[in-house]
Amino acid sequence: MYVCNCNGIREREARAAIDAGATKPAEIFRRCQAHPRCAKCVCDMRRMIEETRDALRFAAE
Ligand code: FES
Repeated sequence: MYVCNCNGIREREARAAIDAGATKPAEIFRRCQAHPRCAKCVCDMRRMIEETRDALRFAAE
């Protein structure tokens, strides 16, 4: 499944970027060697980052 249709960034690629330390959509684009175009995917990327952050916070408690 694609997160970013403009750049063909798949969900697993975005997750790999987040797991590698991306904390904002711009870092996901950079790690995927892409640039934002329409930016419709930014909200989804932010949600993925927040979900990962929440999961890590929950695991640390
Ligand atoms: S869907 Fe990602 S920049 Fe357009």
